[in-house]
Amino acid sequence: MSEKDNDIAAWQASIGDLPEHIAIIMDGNGRWANARGLPRTAGHKAGVEATRRAVRSTAELGVKYLTLFAFSSENWRRPEAEVRELMRLLRIYLRSETADLHKDDVRLRVIGDKAMLAADTRQLIDQAESLTAQNNGLQLTIALNYGGRDEIAFATQAMIKDYSEKGYVPDIEEVETRYKSFLMTKDMPDPDLLIRTSGERRISNFLLWQCAYSEFVFTDVLWPDFDKADLMYAIEEFSGRDRRYGNAVCHSRSNKS
Ligand code: IPE
Ligand code: IPE
Ligand code: MG
Repeated sequence: MSEKDNDIAAWQASIGDLPEHIAIIMDGNGRWANARGLPRTAGHKAGVEATRRAVRSTAELGVKYLTLFAFSSENWRRPEAEVRELMRLLRIYLRSETADLHKDDVRLRVIGDKAMLAADTRQLIDQAESLTAQNNGLQLTIALNYGGRDEIAFATQAMIKDYSEKGYVPDIEEVETRYKSFLMTKDMPDPDLLIRTSGERRISNFLLWQCAYSEFVFTDVLWPDFDKADLMYAIEEFSGRDRRYGNAVCHSRSNKS
């Protein structure tokens, strides 16, 4: 074992239960650029570097699922030039990163309404998803043109279609247990830890169904400055929380159900 591996093993032991799934609302690119007298797009470019770092660090620290909010269904309201630049950066990220992600055994998936994305962007996504589909390392999900209410509306419609074919109205218990299988996140556990950078303390339509029992960690750090130490700090904060799931006593993740 290298010294770095030893350090990580010692840190993991000090944490106890690592979060299995971390979701991040990557916010503050515009303010980061503004503080430097740069255009917002420079902030987005620096944000891509922070994203690369976060993916690497999450895998290194032994967390299995990472879901990143990259573009919300409301972000189309931004100036056209900014939206265009965000999409361009996404394509650059996919082109430059997919091979390395594959080499590192990362599985990449995109959630969100892909139908509204440009054909070349969709093609890059499809290629990355199929190339990495069998990988068992970090399960990386990028939320792109994603909105929590949109997802719930899509899932509800799919469920209605399913039951109209089946020909009966399910009871509430059945709706709740089957609902997850209609969500875009059906193959992953709910986030244990949700991090939002840049000092904002809201969910902004991210993973509304899935965050029912997530622990939230808010940091003032702007996304382009977010690094491995900030990620470790958020996990340390998470590890000090009591998760009760409605019970009177503290339950660890392993006996939550
Ligand atoms: C996050 O940074 C990136 C996206 C939402 C695409 P922002 O662009 O929201 O940065 P601020 O919040 O204006 O600083
Ligand atoms: C949320 O950030 C969306 C992403 C990080 C992609 P926003 O910057 O769009 O959220 P609001 O507008 O501050 O709520
Ligand atoms: Mg923002």
